[in-house]
Amino acid sequence: MKTVKTIKELHSALNLARRKGSKIHFVPTMGYLHEGHLELVRAAKKDKGFVVVSIFVNPLQFGPKEDLAQYPRNLKRDKKLLEQEGVNLVFCPPVKEIYPEPNSTYITEEESTQYWCGKFRPGHFKGVLTVVAKFFQLVQPDAAYFGQKDFQQFFLISKMAQNLFFKTKIKRVPTVREEDGLAMSSRNSYLSSTQRKQALGLIEGLRAMQFTYLSGIKDASELKRVMQKVVKSTKQLKIQYMGVASQKDLSPVKKVKEGDVVLVAGFVGKTRLIDNWIIGDKL
Ligand code: PAJ
Repeated sequence: MKTVKTIKELHSALNLARRKGSKIHFVPTMGYLHEGHLELVRAAKKDKGFVVVSIFVNPLQFGPKEDLAQYPRNLKRDKKLLEQEGVNLVFCPPVKEIYPEPNSTYITEEESTQYWCGKFRPGHFKGVLTVVAKFFQLVQPDAAYFGQKDFQQFFLISKMAQNLFFKTKIKRVPTVREEDGLAMSSRNSYLSSTQRKQALGLIEGLRAMQFTYLSGIKDASELKRVMQKVVKSTKQLKIQYMGVASQKDLSPVKKVKEGDVVLVAGFVGKTRLIDNWIIGDKL
């Protein structure tokens, strides 16, 4: 496994792989890796490519009051895990390599960002799409892998690739969960053991909703009420948003059908957690 920090080194490693006829499979991350990230790597590997993983905590996607400074980092451990997975190339550039001068060119999406995380984290997806576009431009991947855990992110990146005619195929990998159902996240490391239990309200709410849906209730507001009730019993979990979205454009739906997606975000203390369930999928 090779680790590079500059665009120049990245390009020479990629050129070598391409000359050997390899497909380039790309997994962008912000590091502090867990099983969720590793599943993306395994999917990239399974598709038989030269696997490139980027580790870059992107300042542009953090709001002024968010956790950029505290965001957990452990490059040494990350590299060890990636090496064990048989990754070919790790790209971990310093901020000035990706933003050599103040950034004034952005990628924005103006429809589906008005809902859900986009509504509560202004500028977040502008930062995500801009950095992912930069990485796609640098890596020119044949395929790139994203987690279902960040459903709106996956949706917007797919949309960007489609709208801007990127040749990269965007692949979605199911959410990896802890044994008790909590979606894995680098931010789970912020939780105390009591908060860790409170965070389970999210998955319990989604499960209650699934149960109610399967019992025949298709009305979104009724389903939301069920979830709200479950979540409210966990007093320390403060829901930021919750709703059912169409996979067409992420707009909220009133009547729920298979393929729609339930999206939820909440705070346990200062830690913001998200989760989702695609209706019809196993939870
Ligand atoms: P990060 O939070 O490090 O996540 C990197 C990738 O791992 C994303 O595609 C995310 O959806 C996926 N992922 C995280 N937790 C997961 C889980 N429990 N199961 C499955 N996949 C999971 O998302 C970002 O970084 C950044 O926004 C990035 C795309 C790298 C741009 O900066």
